[in-house]
Amino acid sequence: MAIKTIIEPFRIKAVEPIRMTTRAEREARIREAFYNVFLLHADDVLIDLLTDSGTGAMSSDQWAAVMRGDESYAGSPSFYRFEESVKRLFPFKHIIPTHQGRAAERILFNVTCGPGQIVPNNTHFDTTRANIEYRGATALDLPCAESHDIATPHPFKGNMDVAALERLLEGEGLEKVPLVMMTITNNSGGGQPVAMANVRAVSEICHRYGIPFYIDACRFAENAYFVKQREPGYADKSVVDIARELMSYADGCTMSAKKDGLANIGGFLATDDEELARQEKDLLILTEGYPTYGGLAGRDLEAIAVGLEEVVHEDYLQYRIVSTGYLGKHISREGVPIVQPPGGHAVYIDCSAFLPQLEPLQYPGIALAVELYVEAGIRGVEIGSVMFGQVEPESGEETPAEKELLRLAIPRRVYTQSHIDYVVEAILEVWKRREGIGGYRISYQAPFLRHFTARFEPLGARA
Ligand code: F0G
Repeated sequence: MAIKTIIEPFRIKAVEPIRMTTRAEREARIREAFYNVFLLHADDVLIDLLTDSGTGAMSSDQWAAVMRGDESYAGSPSFYRFEESVKRLFPFKHIIPTHQGRAAERILFNVTCGPGQIVPNNTHFDTTRANIEYRGATALDLPCAESHDIATPHPFKGNMDVAALERLLEGEGLEKVPLVMMTITNNSGGGQPVAMANVRAVSEICHRYGIPFYIDACRFAENAYFVKQREPGYADKSVVDIARELMSYADGCTMSAKKDGLANIGGFLATDDEELARQEKDLLILTEGYPTYGGLAGRDLEAIAVGLEEVVHEDYLQYRIVSTGYLGKHISREGVPIVQPPGGHAVYIDCSAFLPQLEPLQYPGIALAVELYVEAGIRGVEIGSVMFGQVEPESGEETPAEKELLRLAIPRRVYTQSHIDYVVEAILEVWKRREGIGGYRISYQAPFLRHFTARFEPLGARA
């Protein structure tokens, strides 16, 4: 009988000690941080699930490649190795390196969109939305119907609502919609994958209306693996072929190499359009750097080149998806409400269902983030009304977000199964005492992107 246990497909060569803390210390640290986990020192965190972005562990081959990095200002061989590795998976004509994903977004939206226009997406990530709004345009989310139902699983909950897109384009056309984007996997929508059939359908509609179609490819490898697992007809295809097929439907993409590039920094912008690429490179020189390095050192380009080879290894992806699912499965079978099924890079706890005694504007996501930190030194991030609520600038009146979630994002190749078992146990301890958990009010907030610096106060004594 074949062995069923799926192991981490790596050994550990360098270790980073975790500083243990006591509950009393954590009580003090979170109070000093005004109950906002972004304001904690990372040294005071035991298991950091704030983000999977730039927090992964590099392999010995990546570190070896770092030494090969060539720091020539123009025409570095590291750029050509980077370009070749990117083009194997993203076969676009022009590959423009940037220091991270949002730099690629900023350049793309600067050359393509302006005031009064609309950019649809399945669900925009917050930097994508902010870069579009900064241009005076509207960032429109068109998630599929299944995505609204938190508790019911669906294989491709990240899909776009194709009929809604078609209605929009019929009414508005090219003048109003300069491009359509699709985020794979759909991060703000619960780390859920997008089906190949959905990408194909969106691409077909865009091209019928003559509108460019772009992919936000941050977690393309995880998405490709889900397609292989869940979509009929793909079980026997390689992840590389699936990724290439996904990209073949698009006119270009933006990418943060801090996710599925398995690097700590970097990104790129890709396009088939000659004229657009010329304009993008002009802007790149203005703010990022010469087109053969973007905002990166040669050594970073090398780390990404190797990362993109490793991320499509199927034993790595199997471990990645199974280990995220392991956390989701072990808490949900004890009753903890999560977005079902677990996503590729993160598990999202439904805080409205976890803490039904709290109103959305008592910030249940903040309340749970605080409790998890105090209980066990675990740091997650609220994706709810603090991050996505609307505040009326004049009156200060707040409209809550659609969902109150706490995201536990898993850094790539960093934590072992016993770390995750510890996270499971901690969540279940907080679950047992959930009825005693109270809400928060905001005592200070910035006028935009308030979640990073907001200060909170407990509404009553913390239980
Ligand atoms: N698009 C998506 C879907 C993302 O998740 C991110 C970053 C970006 C674009 C921007 O890339 O950080 O390299 O500038 N997401 C991180 C997160 C920050 O925690 O989910 P970046």
